[in-house]
Amino acid sequence: MSQKTDQWTSKLGFILAAAGSAIGLGAIWKLPYVAGTSGGGAFFIIFLLFTILLGLPLLLAEFTIGRHTQKEAVSAYRSIAPGSKWPWIGKLGVATSFLLLSFYSVVGGWIVVYLYRAFTMNIKGIAPDEFATMFEQTISNPYLAIFAHFIFILMTIIIVQGGVQKGIERSSKLMMPALFILFILIVLRSVTLDGAMEGVKFFLLPDFTSVTGETVLFALGQAFFSLSLGVSIMVTYSSYLKSKESLPRSAVSIVGLTIFISLLAGLAIFPAVFAFGLEPTEGPPLIFIVLPAVFSSIPFGNVFFILFMALLLFATLTSAFSLLEMVVASLTKNDPSKRKKSSWIAGIAIFVMGIPSALSYGVLADPVFFGLTFFDFLDFLVSNILLPLGALLIAIFVPLKINKKTLAAEIQQGSNMKMIWFHIWFNLVKYVIPVAISLAFLNVLGII
Ligand code: TRP
Repeated sequence: MSQKTDQWTSKLGFILAAAGSAIGLGAIWKLPYVAGTSGGGAFFIIFLLFTILLGLPLLLAEFTIGRHTQKEAVSAYRSIAPGSKWPWIGKLGVATSFLLLSFYSVVGGWIVVYLYRAFTMNIKGIAPDEFATMFEQTISNPYLAIFAHFIFILMTIIIVQGGVQKGIERSSKLMMPALFILFILIVLRSVTLDGAMEGVKFFLLPDFTSVTGETVLFALGQAFFSLSLGVSIMVTYSSYLKSKESLPRSAVSIVGLTIFISLLAGLAIFPAVFAFGLEPTEGPPLIFIVLPAVFSSIPFGNVFFILFMALLLFATLTSAFSLLEMVVASLTKNDPSKRKKSSWIAGIAIFVMGIPSALSYGVLADPVFFGLTFFDFLDFLVSNILLPLGALLIAIFVPLKINKKTLAAEIQQGSNMKMIWFHIWFNLVKYVIPVAISLAFLNVLGII
């Protein structure tokens, strides 16, 4: 019990934590790289559509389960559907978070390396394509890649085991707006480069002829990934929320922020990609190649580079906490005395799990599963299979196991959402989300 009151008691804490979990590498690193490899504009439009039509209602559904039960994920499902298999949604969420954090932390490590680089190198006068070589040379070093991954997970463990998230969440009130402002600056530079328009078109003008079943599934995965959905993290977070706060309003603001930062990320990256003659299909290294190139064309570029990497590291850490917290909460089972030990055990296991991903840009660069490297395989498995699967199960669970009146009462508590919106929400959760996810799965499996 005391663990709950340890966390946060105010609405601000909840919003900051939920937004901190959502905003991270998903919008800033993953969106540009997946949009780049999946055809650009059409991908982005489909992603937006899914974020609003599926992501937003699902976020509200997770919030509703959490606040209604006042329990972390697994216990929340158990209390609504005792003696059933439904609590496995929570367990699936824990397993997914574990796998997700293992490669998330590898990218976190890349940020650590680039932050160090930003301090130690002079980026002025380096040609854009040299940044691609620089990334390869840096990250292919197995010791460095593993060491950086270790440093990132270590930072995450230290914060989670100390239970000091509250302080971190409060500082995000300053750091997040700073990150947004810096991003706007980068966008301004990027779109005014010579030849930038090509990139703006690539990102915003949809070409639906290039859309495949995979594009749709990736956009679906991206929508869930960037809102931290499908693993019941938002159930756990909203369970700490006792006051009469508006769940719909919180959900809308988190979705709005995520869309905004995704848009900024695309507008920072693609114009520069085209202006510098780089390739949008670089994959996961994309932002690590393009952003330094943008900074090298800005006065005081090094200073901005340092600032940006520091703020990105912060945003990434606030997402990583939520993932580790999910795993730790399942181990401690509300016994705060186990917190320290559980954080170390979970964190170290995640570190080990991440090692093959860390090596995927070096000694393990050859495909290992289905023509994918270990890193790409895990990313695919988590983002495009496990997250949509978790989302599907949650969308089936809510209307099936919670009485419609109870749902309406819970959602309207603290908000004056009109009944018509409630009905729209209910039908989106009950029909649209399960149908859309099932169709995407069946299509990629070649069944339809
Ligand atoms: N949403 C975070 C990001 O975009 C990543 C993340 C944190 C996440 N917790 C999650 C993704 C839970 C899926 C599920 O960086």
